[in-house]
Amino acid sequence: MNKATLSVFVSGTGSNLLAIHKASMEKFFPGKVKLVICNRICPAFELAKSLNYETKLISNLDIEKFEQIVQKQLIKNKIDLICLAGFMRILSPKFVSNWENKILNIHPSILPLFPGINTHKKVLSKGLKIHGSTVHVVNKKLDSGKILGQFAIPIKNKDLKTLKYEIKKYENIFYPEVIRKYIWTFILKKDKFLCKKLIKDEQIIYSY
Ligand code: GRF
Repeated sequence: MNKATLSVFVSGTGSNLLAIHKASMEKFFPGKVKLVICNRICPAFELAKSLNYETKLISNLDIEKFEQIVQKQLIKNKIDLICLAGFMRILSPKFVSNWENKILNIHPSILPLFPGINTHKKVLSKGLKIHGSTVHVVNKKLDSGKILGQFAIPIKNKDLKTLKYEIKKYENIFYPEVIRKYIWTFILKKDKFLCKKLIKDEQIIYSY
């Protein structure tokens, strides 16, 4: 089976990296992880190494130098799609336009609500009854590219840590699913029907 090559960018605990890794082990998952990029030492970095992925730690550099190194690595590894998974650095407009429609991100809010950081805190302080995450294509503006899918869950427990944990639990199921569909339709272009459906702006919406 022809598979797309993925690079996962991380800075955090790595639960989404692990979820993508597990999905990619399935016979019919249309992508395989080839390269993990980290911008700081973090659990996700250790995880990537323990999974035997080619892992590049590129820290303490300005964004231009950082992206130059990253670009070389992406080309060398013939990467088709970049998946940001808790990556805490804003990519430059130049980099984003070089990889137009080839960078996905998972953001922990129901966009367009709460772009940026501290989303769980903001949701709780507004007293909302639901929370969720969004997978979107990365464009030049923060957290505002085309939405590919979202899920929502009821907030049962108002403890910040618990909410964060709950959201991640569903993200780990949801992100690989959206990646699967995106690769299938837009990278390998196998599913013309779904491709049309997504282009028409019908997003994948789940309510758990
Ligand atoms: C996730 O909640 C994701 O939505 C956000 O950062 C977090 C990363 O978590 N962008 P992990 O490192 O994948 O566990």
